[in-house]
Amino acid sequence: MKNSSNNHAIAVFDSGIGGLTVAAAIRNMLPAEDLVYFGDLLHLPYGSKSRNAVLEFTRSAVNFLVRQNIKALVIACNTATSVAKSQIEKEVSIPVVGVIVPGALAACRVSKNSRIGIIGTTRTVASDAYPEAIHRVNPDISVFQKATPLLVPLIEEGWVDHPVMKIVLSEYLRDIQGKAVDTIVLGCTHYPLIRGAVQEILKDVYIIDSAHTTAVMLKDTLHRKNLMSRKTETGVFRVFLTDTTDYFQSMAQRILGSEVCSFHNVTLQYPNGSAVYTA
Ligand code: DGL
Repeated sequence: MKNSSNNHAIAVFDSGIGGLTVAAAIRNMLPAEDLVYFGDLLHLPYGSKSRNAVLEFTRSAVNFLVRQNIKALVIACNTATSVAKSQIEKEVSIPVVGVIVPGALAACRVSKNSRIGIIGTTRTVASDAYPEAIHRVNPDISVFQKATPLLVPLIEEGWVDHPVMKIVLSEYLRDIQGKAVDTIVLGCTHYPLIRGAVQEILKDVYIIDSAHTTAVMLKDTLHRKNLMSRKTETGVFRVFLTDTTDYFQSMAQRILGSEVCSFHNVTLQYPNGSAVYTA
């Protein structure tokens, strides 16, 4: 049976450019879907902010997105997923897909020695969302987390191939290298952009990013809820940003290739104004 919102858009949300790695995977798998991307550049990075701040930023973004005729929301940010997904699910009436469970499930499937490494923002690591998701599948898996807060600013600056990236990564990955993991989860949607550099350091380790697995989970959800697009032509792709940076467009192009998207600036109202958030 056809659902009246079949041809509504899918919203994909992140603090910055990272969620475009998830949007690209969705585009690839579900080309007929309209996409609305939201990048909260004004408040980036989320990973070093308090839980309350991340929840409020996410809520404001979602309030904007639900007014864009959307049928599903993808929180394409590990930090926002770990802090806000369960709360946002209670506040909206559309399906919400996060990026942590798909990545955790993929890691459990792939690991042979039951030793999994996670790298992510300070907030994501502090939430323990990955160890919890992995231990729900298999409590015997050993999980080693490392917060890697300098990576998002370097990536947003376009320094993905810069020698500084290699130095910072080598430093961060040293702990994980000593733990004999056979699988590492890129627990931040920005990190697929430095996948090659991670693989150079962790040579024989299997790398999981949640872009593809999240797209698969979204597709299953749309199927189950009868929400797949009925269109035959390629969907439109709109990008809304709360601020601009010098590198956003060129990095976006690097991720999306020949994809044509329209860029829009958006100003959000924050109920608490510029209030100081407390953790
Ligand atoms: N892409 C976000 C994530 O997956 C980046 C977080 C940030 O803004 O620090 O966690």
